[in-house]
Order: sequence, then C-alpha cells, then structure tokens
Amino acid sequence: MPALFDTYKIRGLTLRNRIVMAPMCTWMAELGVASDWHYVHYASRAIGGIGLEIVEASAVEPRGRIRNKDVGIWGDEHIEPHRRLTEVVKSHGASPSIQLAHAGRKSETVDDGAGPADSIAPSAIQFGPDFALPREMDAGDLATVKQAFVDAALRAVEAGYESIELHGAHGYLLSQFISSITNQREDEYGGGIPGRAKYPAEVVAAVREAIPQDMPLLVRVSGQDYVESGNTAEDVGAVSRLLGDAGADMIHVSSAGITPDMLPIRSVFPGYQITLAETIGRESGLPTIAVGRITEPLLAEEVIRNERADLVALGRVLLREPYWPLRAAHELGVEVDWPPSYIQGGF
Ligand SMILES: Cc1cc2nc3c(=O)[nH]c(=O)nc-3n(C[C@H](O)[C@H](O)[C@H](O)COP(=O)(O)O)c2cc1C
Repeated sequence: MPALFDTYKIRGLTLRNRIVMAPMCTWMAELGVASDWHYVHYASRAIGGIGLEIVEASAVEPRGRIRNKDVGIWGDEHIEPHRRLTEVVKSHGASPSIQLAHAGRKSETVDDGAGPADSIAPSAIQFGPDFALPREMDAGDLATVKQAFVDAALRAVEAGYESIELHGAHGYLLSQFISSITNQREDEYGGGIPGRAKYPAEVVAAVREAIPQDMPLLVRVSGQDYVESGNTAEDVGAVSRLLGDAGADMIHVSSAGITPDMLPIRSVFPGYQITLAETIGRESGLPTIAVGRITEPLLAEEVIRNERADLVALGRVLLREPYWPLRAAHELGVEVDWPPSYIQGGF
C-alpha cells in the first residue's frame, strides 16, 4: 500500500515523496522575468520538504499572461531566471516542474510592449464585461500557439526543469477548447469530445515529441465545469484518455473557472476535488494528482493509501506553511531528513 512519504517514479523521474506544490501565481515578475521573490518562494518550499514543485503558470506568449506580472517563458531572456529556480529547488531535494500556460480569453493584461496583445480563444465569446472580446483562432493562430508551447517546453528543458505541466484547467486557453461553453467551433476542433480534445491533444503530442523521452508530461484539467451543459468528470475523463493517447503521462485534477461564477463549494470542505481525480483516473487509465483544500496530513495520507490518486498537491496551505511536509512527517510518525541547519528546530 503506497503512503504519502513513499517515493514515486514516473518515466525517468523519482520523487522523494508524494507531496506536490500546486502551481500558484504570485504576480511578482516584470515582463515575465522571475525575480528574487520567486527564488526565495520556491527555495523555501523545497527546504520544507516538497517532492514535486510546480512553478506557477508561466506564459508561453505575452498575450497568454493572466496578468502582466505573471512569470513568462516566451523568450530566451527567461531561461536564466528559471535556471536559478530549478537549481535551488534541486539542491534541496525537490523536483522542479513548470506549468506552461496561455490565458486565451481570460487574459487581463494591458499592452506593455512585450509582444502580441490581442485576445484569442477557440470561439469569439467574451469571458465577462471587463474582458476583451477574443478573436476566434484561425489555422495560423493554432499553429503559432502550438509552436509557442513547444518553444517554451524546450526553454524549460534548457532551464533544468525535470517535468512539464500544461495548463489545461480553469478556463484558460486549452481549457477553453475542452469545454463546450467556450468552444463553439464548427470545424474539427469543436463539437463532441474528440473534437474539443483535438487541439489540446495536438499540443500535448508536439510537446511530447520535443522534450526528452524520460521527462514526464503532465496536464492540469478542470475536472468539472459546474455549469449546466458544461463538462462532467466523465467527460473530462474521456478527454484525458485522449490526452494520454497523445503522450500525457499524468492528469492533475482541479476544477471550474470556465465561467466567471465562483465555485460555491471551493472553500467549503476539505478534499472537494478528490472524487473528480478518482473518476478521471478511472476513466482515463492515467495516474493522477488530487488537489483542493487538502490541508491536514491525515487526509493527504488517506488519499494516497486508499489509492484515490497517485500524488497530492497543496496550494494555499503552503502560502502560510512552507514547511508543511516536515510537520506532516512528524504528525504521521515518518522519519524524514531535515535540512541540517534546521534540525535543532525539529518537533
Ligand atoms: C494565489 C493563487 C494562485 C493560483 N495560481 C494558479 C496557477 O498559476 N495555476 C493553476 O493551475 N492554479 C492556480 N491556482 C490554483 C491552485 O493551484 C490550487 O489548485 C487551488 O488553490 C486549490 O488548492 P488549495 O485548496 O490547496 O489551495 C492558484 C491558487 C491561488 C490561491
């Protein structure tokens, strides 16, 4: 029976435990360049004992930023700042991963001269009154953005990341293709599940082809839209199976974000998305990461021991408690190596 502090192997990567730092924007970059803030932020969580650290949504194009201060990886000038992060994370025993992202119609950026500034989406449907009306992506746009994901993945490899996660959740660009609420295309990239999965699967295949064979490729999905006639977990399970066929190794199961309505249950109960991970794991046949208000070590342990998911990701709790894994090990009675300088602060 697997346990939270067991190692985990996927392709050529072995993680020291099953604890993942969920990608979380910190909005502290200038023109996409990661700063000392990011260095301290990611170094701290590696010192704290995380197994897999997924660096926040990093834009593959300037117009793909969610906000202007997002981290970027659209240019070669971003490689060195990312390398600083990967080196410090690895030096403390965690494995650095990066979330490659494009916001599509949900970009709130204002033109700062960084590059293309128009809003693009699968269909010309506005997210809300404060957002730009996006242009429907044509064949040229599809090719440009796919290439931007590939180029960003190659930069991520050069910067020393050990795995890559594509952001296909929360109503951002790839997620906009997956949901019928945002994808009303009449060409082969719309319609039923195979059509809606087609573009994300093409991006997966292109990135898979470009990165080393032993490097895991993850995709984050919204496991449910929580909107009438939106995707159910079964739908997203079917999409995930197609992403797996295209080369995805693991599915990171979040939810919502496709419409502006806040998910009413988002903060209401611990583990609110775990059942989505179970369904999607079952339907897709792929390993999964569960996430969503998992804050207590025993709940994280339960998810792994009951094999409801393969890894457990923590978001907000890590913003207040960077050394959560050290506390969890103590509470679960597991012996882990402490950072030598901190041993005297042990429990
Ligand atoms: C400040 C903040 C920033 C976030 N940024 C991202 C992001 O860049 N990419 C992403 O996929 N999810 C993002 N999320 C969602 C988290 O990764 C996570 O899925 C969510 O917070 C639920 O997990 P939690 O209850 O453990 O916080 C963000 C969440 C927060 C609170």
